[in-house]
Amino acid sequence: RLLIADLMRSQGELDSVLIQGWVRTRRDSKTFFFLEVNDGSCLKSMQVVVTEKAEGYGTSKSITTGASVSVKGRLVPSQGKGQMWEIQADSVELVGEADESFPLQKKRHSNEYLREIAHLRPRTNLFGAIFRIRSKLAYAIHSFFQEKQFFYVHTPIVTASDCEGAGELFRVSTLDPKNPPLDEEGNIDYKEDFFGRSTYLTVSGQLEGETYATALGNIYTFGPTFRAENSHTSRHASEFWMVEPEMAFCDLAADMDLAEEFVKSVISQVMESCSDDLALFFNFVDKELKERLEFVISRPFKRVSYTEAVDILLASGKDFDNKVEWGVNLQSEHERYLTEEHFKCPVTVYDYPKELKPFYMRANDDGKTVAAMDVLVPGIGEIVGGSQREERLELLKANMAAHGISEKDYWWYVDLRRYGTVPHAGFGLGFERLLMFITGVANIRDVIPYPRVPGHAEF
Ligand code: 4AD
Ligand code: MG
Repeated sequence: RLLIADLMRSQGELDSVLIQGWVRTRRDSKTFFFLEVNDGSCLKSMQVVVTEKAEGYGTSKSITTGASVSVKGRLVPSQGKGQMWEIQADSVELVGEADESFPLQKKRHSNEYLREIAHLRPRTNLFGAIFRIRSKLAYAIHSFFQEKQFFYVHTPIVTASDCEGAGELFRVSTLDPKNPPLDEEGNIDYKEDFFGRSTYLTVSGQLEGETYATALGNIYTFGPTFRAENSHTSRHASEFWMVEPEMAFCDLAADMDLAEEFVKSVISQVMESCSDDLALFFNFVDKELKERLEFVISRPFKRVSYTEAVDILLASGKDFDNKVEWGVNLQSEHERYLTEEHFKCPVTVYDYPKELKPFYMRANDDGKTVAAMDVLVPGIGEIVGGSQREERLELLKANMAAHGISEKDYWWYVDLRRYGTVPHAGFGLGFERLLMFITGVANIRDVIPYPRVPGHAEF
């Protein structure tokens, strides 16, 4: 069996080829019919010509849109426009039929409609391309870090810690919710649980990642993370994939450098390895996308402190819905102003007010800010969030106390500051947000196979 992707690049005619795939369309003539067969290996479908002479011609009535087929034949130059090659079938076999209820037709369906049939949408050109690019992007991420000798660490999915302290946790429990064991005070007694204490789906692999960075040097994680935030935006999902490098003997400046190099490198790799699929997005999804990506990979990102960013926003004269003043979180409208209107390029904002950030970030000498950074990109906003971590024992303890975090629960994390502590830093990149940026696809639900957002877990 040959992949259509390989046949499309064939240097010459081939005598006996076998392809297997799904019928996109069928066009009938008196004595023959055409099939467009797609096997998922590339954007293009293979045109197959089935004449009366082909084996199986007589029984092929039910080869309709959506059916799966096996075709043997000769690869020959195509007379039709739009393709180099076609297959003259020697035999055609119906593997599995699709009845008339098959919901994908030749016309363009809306992304909203296709979300309702998420199990079939990878059989469309657009979603086939998205998920091939998703795979190549994951590969690019691994090669970037592996080439730099970072080690890939698998951090736990079920955990007792709340890295971001934002209280957006999905509880994981084996207790019967109708009849849970109670402690002396009448509260649910999680000690009776399989894990012996409250456990959750991880919001970030960072804390565990730090323990491995302070042993192996440079590491990265790449796995699913979960946030039970009730946001109904096009950029938030309850389950998303995060890439989290963590580097020992590293400060915020080097962390920002790595984030920028990383984003540029994986975009360039994908532009090379997915040029055919990406052309679909350049031509039909966002006409400015190609230019934007080329610009992003070839120019330095802008770097500004949070304080400078606030000054720029205040000086903009814009009437933002969310008021800007030093100390507030930057909202998406602010991030968009900075990247799309003011700088017109990706922007790394660093040194945020400490009140806005989690307990683990390193205090700056000014007493007001922490060594945090976010990378913002046009059209999306934040794709990377990172920081230098507080490596000084007493300062970390003070931060934990200020955030109401018990040293007892995080004793292992505190230990890292007791035994051979080092300056270290890292960041988290939202994999789906990067994929949105690369494809120009506007909704996060369309770049993850089965989106988990409030109210949606049907598949
Ligand atoms: O900024 P965040 O919350 O940072 C962390 O979790 C750190 N522990 C990372 C680290 O330093 N190792 O999340 C990191 C990135 C965001 O910049 C965003 O791209 C993505 O994860 N992200 C989401 N993506 C989709 N849906 C959500 N609900 C997301 N929340 C965060
Ligand atoms: Mg963040």
